Amino acid sequence: MSWIKEGELTIIERFCANVIKAGPMPKHVAFIMDGNRRYAQKCHVKRQQGHSEGFDKLAQTLRWCLNLDIREVTVYAFSIENFKRSKEEVDGLMELARQKFSRLLEEQENLKKHGVCIRVLGDLPLLPLDIQELIAQAVLATRNYNNDVSESLLDKCLYTNNSPNPDLLIRTSGEVRLSDFLLWQTSHSCLVFQSVLWPEYSFWNLCEAILRFQMNHSALQKARDLHMEEGKRQQLESDQAYVTNKLQQEGSASHGDSQRRRTLLQKYAALREERIQSFLQALEHKRVDFLERLCTVSA
Ligand code: IPE
Ligand code: IPE
Ligand code: MG
Repeated sequence: MSWIKEGELTIIERFCANVIKAGPMPKHVAFIMDGNRRYAQKCHVKRQQGHSEGFDKLAQTLRWCLNLDIREVTVYAFSIENFKRSKEEVDGLMELARQKFSRLLEEQENLKKHGVCIRVLGDLPLLPLDIQELIAQAVLATRNYNNDVSESLLDKCLYTNNSPNPDLLIRTSGEVRLSDFLLWQTSHSCLVFQSVLWPEYSFWNLCEAILRFQMNHSALQKARDLHMEEGKRQQLESDQAYVTNKLQQEGSASHGDSQRRRTLLQKYAALREERIQSFLQALEHKRVDFLERLCTVSA
């Protein structure tokens, strides 16, 4: 049987899914799947059973997302902090992750037909050492180009860069913190905290979270647009300041040569784009290298 369980929604679920789909839908949903051990305690089962049911709930949730046309899901399954738990629990979780995620990857071909792509990433440190080194080199190389360093460049440096930021982030079990999960990427996401324990998560909980996203959609959109506009404005302002400075050095600023100013501005922006692209390419090479080495070590 498929891990992401095949099958349709019930009639009532399908009806509600269609009603919800008439509104704005999140394209990317992130989950902090929390509450497995409290669930195990509540149901008087072993802790490992709680974690196992948690992974099964993920399979079910992915199917609901598929039915709701949500094509991108990111989940927090294990944090670096979680390594502090007992060896027995960590080993059990690692074994479950190996089993369940490898089944998920086996199903990749089938899922691609639905336009779904799967990437399994560990909780990588935000800036692995050699990437820190590359950034240090880049800072030295661009010390004359302070304008290159912007929020949008930082965005592109993160390993989540080839995916849009989550529209909706859901944390279960009543905890109202992000525990270091996608801190940068969720600055304009709708954050929904639900009290249900993860293994008990239901289709209706997911609908409720999406409804909350829909109720806040226009405010979120407005905040995102404003933020983007502000980024562009700041970039233009600093480019203009650079060009004014250049013209002053040439002694032509006061003459207000607007054509020359425009040309310089365009040239400066194009050169910056070139520098940024070559930096990002070098960063991508380092990242691929780093991930390959990580895979060799853990194989
Ligand atoms: C989340 O559930 C799963 C992992 C962190 C691996 P927990 O194990 O944190 O369960 P609670 O929150 O203690 O109930
Ligand atoms: C959070 O782990 C990460 C996951 C749910 C995978 P915890 O449940 O241990 O949360 P914190 O560290 O107490 O915030
Ligand atoms: Mg927890």
